[in-house]
Amino acid sequence: MAAEILSGPQVAKAILQQIKKDVDNVSWTPGLCVIQVGENSASSIYVSRKAKRASKLGFHSVTLEFSESITETELLLELEKYNQDPNIHGILVQLPLPPHIRSQVVLDAVEPSKDVDGFHPINAGKLSQGRSDLIPCTPKGVMKMIDHYNLETSGKHAVVIGRSNIVGRPMAQLLEQANCTVTICHSRTTNLSEIVKTADIVVAAVGIPKLITGEWLKPDVVVFDVGINQLEDGSICGDVDFDSAESIAGWITPVPGGVGPMTITCLMENTWLAAKAIEKR
Ligand code: GUN
Repeated sequence: MAAEILSGPQVAKAILQQIKKDVDNVSWTPGLCVIQVGENSASSIYVSRKAKRASKLGFHSVTLEFSESITETELLLELEKYNQDPNIHGILVQLPLPPHIRSQVVLDAVEPSKDVDGFHPINAGKLSQGRSDLIPCTPKGVMKMIDHYNLETSGKHAVVIGRSNIVGRPMAQLLEQANCTVTICHSRTTNLSEIVKTADIVVAAVGIPKLITGEWLKPDVVVFDVGINQLEDGSICGDVDFDSAESIAGWITPVPGGVGPMTITCLMENTWLAAKAIEKR
């Protein structure tokens, strides 16, 4: 039997409608600043989608596009302006940054209360203790899909493939906090397919097109495919081979139309949450 589809756009719709309603009911305007450095075509697409969505919700939206030649010091000075700007409640620095700029230095410089990516060490530390305000958007989006579709997590074996600070690590923490038993796999993991075969929930965030095939999956497993890979013909595919996985899994996210829209939705929610907290002070 074919797996049930977990639809990101469907889950996102209700959340975005609620944010819009909430924003319409306050006298101030949430502000989001998105910063991009250099020309990376994928980043440009993501940045423009984020800005467009923010404007649609009635947010004040600022997009800064700096040339590849900006120095780390110059970027930090620019960033500081928005840390201080009372009209901006959320700041996102699109990754990757060019190699001459240390990402960690820049991410550490974002005011933690405006860190809508949840990447600042203060927010990452809070998440690891289960008391976070601003949770990284993609893993947060996966948890919202789990809630929406009422999928059981307690006692389940979740296998997270990928250990980045953006997805894998926070994802594993959130699943553990939802009472899963979690295994984190990564590029040095041996017997990856055998570990995945024992999973009740799989989150694939490795960036290798169609790595995970149906043969790796236990029947009825829940599969979240976080991968967004561009193939040579220009088409987009995930880290999971959808065609072979669909007949084995119980639930699966397609690419596109799965987790992707939830990332932007959670960025909007984080901006709203950050704005509320700042305006309440
Ligand atoms: N690059 C890829 N994913 C992300 C993300 O979630 N946030 C930022 N800032 N950059 C990214």
